Amino acid sequence: MTTSIDDRVQKSLVFVVGGSLLQREEIAQNLKSFYLFELFESESAVSERLETAVPTAIIIDEILPPMGGAGLIAKVRGRDDTNNIPIVFTAEPKSAEMIAEATSYDRVFLVERPFKRGTFVGALSSGVNASVEAQWEGFEPIQKKALKNTLSSFNSIANLIQEGEPIPYEDVRDSCAPLVEAVQNNNFKDILSGVSEHDNYTYVHSLRVATFLSLFGNVLGMKGEDLMTLSTGGLLHDVGKMHIPHEVLNKPGKLTEDEYVIMQSHVNCTVDFLEETSELPKGVLIIAGQHHEKIDGTGYPYGLKGGKLNELARIASIIDIFSAITDRRVYKEPVPPEQALKIMGNMNKQLDQNFLGVFREMLLDGAT
Ligand SMILES: [Fe+2]
Ligand SMILES: [Fe+2]
Repeated sequence: MTTSIDDRVQKSLVFVVGGSLLQREEIAQNLKSFYLFELFESESAVSERLETAVPTAIIIDEILPPMGGAGLIAKVRGRDDTNNIPIVFTAEPKSAEMIAEATSYDRVFLVERPFKRGTFVGALSSGVNASVEAQWEGFEPIQKKALKNTLSSFNSIANLIQEGEPIPYEDVRDSCAPLVEAVQNNNFKDILSGVSEHDNYTYVHSLRVATFLSLFGNVLGMKGEDLMTLSTGGLLHDVGKMHIPHEVLNKPGKLTEDEYVIMQSHVNCTVDFLEETSELPKGVLIIAGQHHEKIDGTGYPYGLKGGKLNELARIASIIDIFSAITDRRVYKEPVPPEQALKIMGNMNKQLDQNFLGVFREMLLDGAT
């Protein structure tokens, strides 16, 4: 099995430095489903730790013995391995001088005390994303373009959905063109690894589904608009999740029956959004509407069975399940691809085993 799709990453490590013990513990407690925290009360303790671990982000308070939070920022920025790390700086608004000094460095996100959880999550998430997106700059042009275009398309879809505006299909389709080109040239590995640490889970999952669908279509000999339909369908297949409450979408552990009903509603939500879109290829609607259907009729929302599920629906459900199992989530480690395929092999009443065989071959052949 190739290791290139094995883009497993641990939950992102974040250091919380300075301020009161209560503040540090509150941050860690409130955000523990998103990140793995380590807490430090002094500059020397965190400096020692930085010798052995580089975190995804650092949260630094203005109160930090002996030199204050801004002093640590200067130190962190002075090191080669940490000079790009996003930093969230917490301070009281009256500490204008320290704030000015701290924010004079790039990628320092200020959160004024006392802060609301939402503001804090937003700042940390923007920081992490800014640094993930900065890493894309070093990728090959086509892969960089695939990531940037699909992300900006995804972000504008989120805004349009919020405003109740239709999604412009042509624009989304065009944003997927570099992805398809990258897949056709077997030049896409950084796309999968580059997206894995991004903080917008629905985007990460959707882009992985779009990439695997394009790869699968390519192996099946699809070309042109058919391949574009697969990649665009992948990017759009779960947009209805933008209406699912965060606590349900990211809940660690089993959903209650009510929560499961809410979760399942993302399919109808997605279809409703997409039906507002003019000139949408039928294939995109099938991918979005039927990717949770199962051959034995146990899927949702329609409970379609056997021959009622066409090839596209069968492919979409295989790719969606594979991606979901191998995705990194805030509450679980990603399952290795080999194990995911094994689990799926046991779902022989639910998944098309012929297509699953082709998909398995594709992974073994190192198409990925
Ligand atoms: Fe879905
Ligand atoms: Fe999905």
